[in-house]
Amino acid sequence: MGIAFQTPRADVALMEPPVLQAQGPLDDVFFGAPASEQAFCGEAGLLKGPSFNADELLKIRELIKGHLVETAHGQSPRAAAAIAGVELDQYHLISSEIDHAKLLSKQGRILPKRVVDAIKEMSFFDYLRKTMGPYCLSDEEGVGQEQVCFRIVRPERREDVGSLHRDAWFWDHYGFHRPEGVGRGKVWVAVSGDPDRAGLLLAPGSHHKPAPYRTDTVNGKLGFVPDFDIHEIGLQRYCGDLGEPIMFNYNTLHVGSLNRSGRCRVSFEVTVMFKAFS
Ligand SMILES: [Fe+2]
Repeated sequence: MGIAFQTPRADVALMEPPVLQAQGPLDDVFFGAPASEQAFCGEAGLLKGPSFNADELLKIRELIKGHLVETAHGQSPRAAAAIAGVELDQYHLISSEIDHAKLLSKQGRILPKRVVDAIKEMSFFDYLRKTMGPYCLSDEEGVGQEQVCFRIVRPERREDVGSLHRDAWFWDHYGFHRPEGVGRGKVWVAVSGDPDRAGLLLAPGSHHKPAPYRTDTVNGKLGFVPDFDIHEIGLQRYCGDLGEPIMFNYNTLHVGSLNRSGRCRVSFEVTVMFKAFS
């Protein structure tokens, strides 16, 4: 009697596709079209933004670490001291001493208003205002403030990255409200780690294509399961420098890649809500 083997579904976060050559920064992020969610970042659906400078990067790392130390105090002074004692990109060396899952839950990854205000003072946000008009950052979970969300991906930890998705899927799944006449766009920036070996995978042009999916729960977390061939969508690896933002369309397919370096990848992301004409 034969044994039926089931081919395991390929894990997209483990893929190492070619390096992405992204355009940008550009003065017109809508490529001549009226401002709209569909037109954001043009045909490719992704675009590099102007870099945060070295001082800004240092400041952002300091702010994220300060926030971590502060929230870890709620667990124990020992946990706070452990985090305070290492560089942000060495966080994995002490993460077993703390309740990592709790510290870096979705709520724990939302930076406090004081930190958001400091980050929004930085020059990149002048660029957003210039190219996208008056905007605000989203607060889809209703925490009562504009959200800047950070993430720490430890070396070789599959559980620290999610599944392939469009950001719009989260809004659809949870029924988050998008006000009339408002478009959404995403900005993602790595601030620590080795971007060559620990970046984000994105599929240029994928925002125009159908992408059916199902939802699933993996380790208590929402996961999206694509009902299309992930090898056909042309994923590429973003390898921008630290502080070099990648902006992308709310329907661009993307996923964080497994961190194959020896340092933690620390990134932050925002959803920009702008006035849209369609
Ligand atoms: Fe995303």
